Amino acid sequence: MTDTPVDSSPLTYPFERPSALEPCPHYKRLRETKPVADIRMPSGDHALLVTDYESVRTVLSDARFSRAATARPGAPRIGTEPQNAKNLLSMDPPQHTRVRRLVSREFTARRVAALRPRIQSRTDELLDAMKRAGPPTDLVPALAFPLPVTVICELLGVPLDEREQIAEWSGTVLSTVSLPVEQIIAAHSGLATYLGGLIAAKRAKPGDDLLSALVSIHETDAERLDEEELLHLAITLLIAGHETTTNQIANGVLALLTHPEQFEAVRRDPGVIPAAVEELLRFVPPGDEATLRIALEDVKLGDTVVPTGTAVLASLASANRDARHFTEPDTLDVTDTARAQHLTFGYGIHYCLGAGLARLELEIAIGTLLRRFPTLRPAVPAGEVPRSSGRLIHGVTSLPVAW
Ligand code: HEM
Repeated sequence: MTDTPVDSSPLTYPFERPSALEPCPHYKRLRETKPVADIRMPSGDHALLVTDYESVRTVLSDARFSRAATARPGAPRIGTEPQNAKNLLSMDPPQHTRVRRLVSREFTARRVAALRPRIQSRTDELLDAMKRAGPPTDLVPALAFPLPVTVICELLGVPLDEREQIAEWSGTVLSTVSLPVEQIIAAHSGLATYLGGLIAAKRAKPGDDLLSALVSIHETDAERLDEEELLHLAITLLIAGHETTTNQIANGVLALLTHPEQFEAVRRDPGVIPAAVEELLRFVPPGDEATLRIALEDVKLGDTVVPTGTAVLASLASANRDARHFTEPDTLDVTDTARAQHLTFGYGIHYCLGAGLARLELEIAIGTLLRRFPTLRPAVPAGEVPRSSGRLIHGVTSLPVAW
C-alpha cells in the first residue's frame, strides 16, 4: 500500500483508502486529469489504471481486452501468484462461453430464489443470538461473516463444520500483497485438495446441491466440463461466494450507520431496500478494481492508445464515483434508483455470476437488521473501525455496534 502523490509516475498500486468508507482521493484526480494512468503493481509489473466510467466499461466488455492472456507464461500479474487458465474468470470465448453456459444452467435464478427461506431463517437465528447477547456486539462475527459462508456452503453442499478452515484458505488466497506467495499457493492447494475430495464424494453419492449438479454435468454432458474446470469452478464459487458478500454487508451497514437520515429512510420504508442495496454497492464496493486484462491489439481509450500487450486494470470503485455518469456521486442516496448502474458486479461477459445471490443476501441481511434493531448505532467512532489492507477484497474487519 502507498500514499505516493498522484502526480508521480508510475503510481505505486494499490492505493491506501483514507477510511473504510472513502475511496482513495487519487481516483478523483485521475478521472479529471489522467483517466488512463501508469501504475506499478506489487509484482513490479507495469499496467495502465483506467478510472472513468466509459473506459472502465469498455475494458470490461471489449473482446480486445483479454483475461486468458493473463494466464499465459510470463504475463504481467498484480501480485506474485500466477493465474490459472482453467478458472472461469481467466477464460476468453469460446471456452468462457461454454463453461459459463454450463454453470448458468444449474446456478439459476430459480435455485437462488429457493434459498430465500433458508437465508431468512439463518439471518433470524443470528440476530436472535445477537439480541440475547445484548449490546455492544461486533457485527462481523455476529452476522456479516457467518451468513454468506453458511449460504455458499449450503448452496454448494460443503459441510458447515469446514467453514472456518475454508474462510482461512480463502482469506489467504485473496490477500494479494500482504502475505508471502508460498502461503498463498499453499492455501490454494489446501482448497483444491479439499474440494477434489468433496467432488469425489459427490460423484459417489450425489446430493441436491450445486456441486453435485456440476459433477453430473462433468459426467454426462456432451459439451462437458473437464476435471480441472470443475475443480476451479468449485474453488471460485466458494471464494467469490462469501468474502465479497461479508465485506459488503459490513461496509453497507457502516455506511448507513454513519448517514442516519439514509438509515431512517430505509427503516421507514422497507420498499426502499432493493434500491438501497444497489446504492451501497456503488458507494462502498468491497473491491476497488476488476481483475487484470491484457490488450490483444492497440486500443484507443479516450485520448490514450493502449499498446498491444499492455496490462490494464479497470477501477470499478472509481467508475462508481464518476460525476459524468452519476449525479452527486459522493453523496449516499438510497432512494435514487439510477445508482443501480454501478459497476460493482463488473460488466460484460464476466459479469458476476453470483450477483443475484449476493443481492438476495444483502436485502435480507440489511432489511432484517434494520427492522429488528431500529436504534442500531456505531459503538466506536467511524474513523476507528478497523479494516483490512493489502487484499483484493476489502472491508471492515470488525464493526462494533450498540442499540
Ligand atoms: C457483493 C458481492 C459480490 C461482488 C461485489 C462481486 C463482484 C464480482 C465482479 C466485479 C466480478 C467480475 C470481475 C471481472 O470482470 O474482472 C465477479 C465475477 C464473478 N463472481 Fe462475483 N461478486 C460478489 C458475489 C458473488 C457470489 C455470492 C458468487 C457466487 C456464489 C460470485 C461468483 C462470481 C463468479 C463465479 C464470477 C466469474 C464470472 C465469469 O468470469 O464469468 N460472486 N464478481
